[in-house]
Amino acid sequence: MRSNLPVADFLSSNIPRGVRGARSPPSAAVPHGAAFPALPLHGWHPTKTPMRLLFLGDVVGRAGRSVVAGRLPKLRADWGLDFVVVNGENASSGAGLTGEHAKLLLAAGADCLTLGDHAFDQKDMLTYIETEPRIIRPLNFARQAPGKGYRVFGAKDGRKVLVLQALGQVFMKRPFDDPFSAVEAVLKSHPLGGMASATILDFHAEATSEKMAMGHWCDGRVSLCVGTHTHVPTGDAQILTAGSAYLTDAGMCGDYNSVIGMDRQEPLRRFVTGMAKGRFEPANGPATLSGVYVETDDRTGIATRVVMVRLGGRLQESQP
Ligand SMILES: [Fe+2]
Ligand SMILES: [Fe+2]
Repeated sequence: MRSNLPVADFLSSNIPRGVRGARSPPSAAVPHGAAFPALPLHGWHPTKTPMRLLFLGDVVGRAGRSVVAGRLPKLRADWGLDFVVVNGENASSGAGLTGEHAKLLLAAGADCLTLGDHAFDQKDMLTYIETEPRIIRPLNFARQAPGKGYRVFGAKDGRKVLVLQALGQVFMKRPFDDPFSAVEAVLKSHPLGGMASATILDFHAEATSEKMAMGHWCDGRVSLCVGTHTHVPTGDAQILTAGSAYLTDAGMCGDYNSVIGMDRQEPLRRFVTGMAKGRFEPANGPATLSGVYVETDDRTGIATRVVMVRLGGRLQESQP
């Protein structure tokens, strides 16, 4: 049923307790059973050893696989990364992910691979995902889809990282269930700063408006809400008002001398003439590693720093 509340009131009435003001210092722990209210901690400051997270956008074809395999191992060491998520939905021939290519991305230093609307374009993934818990597919892909839409991973020093993925509904090729309620259910049962030291949401969607809405909906309840799917990075990395890092789209790991990662010839022909002649083939020129780097406060899971990442290839460089 629709609420008659004005939008702002409706939103605030639906934001879980504790989300607003999530950037405030945590309260002092109250002994079990104590009858006095919690007091603010004096001298509270963000942790001195933040959790360092890296998210890389859609890996496209051989060029994308090569730039991840070539650069990620060194970045893990140089940037002291605690947890790395890579979107692999286009890593195999530009559509889907095979088990073999999943192994390659994991061996390069990804702790988790996310997918997207192309999750099962490679039939291999229908069974492979059940054997590899480090791969997750969108929560709202289909009720019968194999695999899982979220998972809690173990990270360094016993910390837990929740990764979840959802698909948008606006301008997508087929209708998917409501992503907001799908995400809500997982976040409710996995509170940030409680069960999860850090939470990363990959929102795989076309419309920038839907992605920004998801960012605000999750603000204070995830460490990072990052968009994927368009293959073009946006320039709006920020920490939202309740402390979640946000980027509308991470861009792709692929060759930007292309049409969203595909060799230009066939997409141009289809746009100009309206007629298809061949298959889309991934562009195989020098690729850019594209994504976002986030530091979080260990105790709250809230983001303290966010930086866009673009390395190699044709795009202007950006790194922490
Ligand atoms: Fe996609
Ligand atoms: Fe994609």
